[in-house]
Amino acid sequence: MGRALCDRLRAQGIEVFEAQRSTGVDAYAGTGLVEAFTGADVVVDCTNVTTTRAKTAIDFFGTVAANVAIAATQAGIGRVVCLSIINAADPEVNAKFGYYQGKAAQEKAYRDGLDAGRLVVVRSAQWYELARQMMGSLRAGPVAAVPHMRCRPLSVADAAVEVARAVTAPVADDIEIAGPDVLDLADVGKAIARRTGSPKWVFGVNVGGAAIRDGHLVPDHPDVVTQTSLDQWIEQAYPATASAVGRG
Ligand SMILES: NC(=O)c1ccc[n+]([C@@H]2O[C@H](COP(=O)([O-])OP(=O)(O)OC[C@H]3O[C@@H](n4cnc5c(N)ncnc54)[C@H](OP(=O)(O)O)[C@@H]3O)[C@@H](O)[C@H]2O)c1
Repeated sequence: MGRALCDRLRAQGIEVFEAQRSTGVDAYAGTGLVEAFTGADVVVDCTNVTTTRAKTAIDFFGTVAANVAIAATQAGIGRVVCLSIINAADPEVNAKFGYYQGKAAQEKAYRDGLDAGRLVVVRSAQWYELARQMMGSLRAGPVAAVPHMRCRPLSVADAAVEVARAVTAPVADDIEIAGPDVLDLADVGKAIARRTGSPKWVFGVNVGGAAIRDGHLVPDHPDVVTQTSLDQWIEQAYPATASAVGRG
């Protein structure tokens, strides 16, 4: 998301500084943040840690959010945008999903660390790209697994449009953004594999508790419903070559 958002904002003529470890900023250690933020109007937290462990997720997201909130205050930042996940902070949803407990800690640390008027939380549904990410990490040879997650997925590019709006709008409120259809994330993985031919087999697996599978991640009334369907995203992400089209 950080990459997509930077590209989007720059295309809109907005100056962006990428505060990441390669540019001398460690948001977890809290180093370089004030220097990176000084002179900016808005900070967007697109940080992530890849873990299923609650302890690791809570520590990472809670610490980064607290550090960013302190540095943003010191640097006089007017708005901090936190990128979170629809319903992830709900204890009924995240009871058996450690990563989402981390997102709950992140939202809380921002609420505790910033005045309400300076915090904007953009809660997105899962991205199509998440299925690809999971097939990369839960893979053994020709077999990959994707968790059964009933959700309203969308593309990173569509989500970036809305995050950019939260950055540039004169006034911004917390919003929920979701894709056009309710799908099982495991089916997104299977669709990618069908298109690309790899991995050969994709299995849906039950992880993270029943709430993840039975629709608790699906928003009741999202503020924004994006347009790109799974089929359209696959066409864009994996364009058919002339020879593949020829073979049907
Ligand atoms: N995947 C989804 O479906 C989804 C949906 C809704 C919301 N979200 C949220 O969106 C956010 C971004 O997700 P993503 O998939 O784009 O993440 P990602 O691809 O894993 O990228 C994570 C970024 O965090 C940076 N980072 C990690 N540790 C850092 C540190 N100590 N200091 C500074 N930067 C650090 C990394 O930069 P360096 O490693 O270069 O420093 C990298 O740019 C996450 O908070 C996630 O929960 C994800």
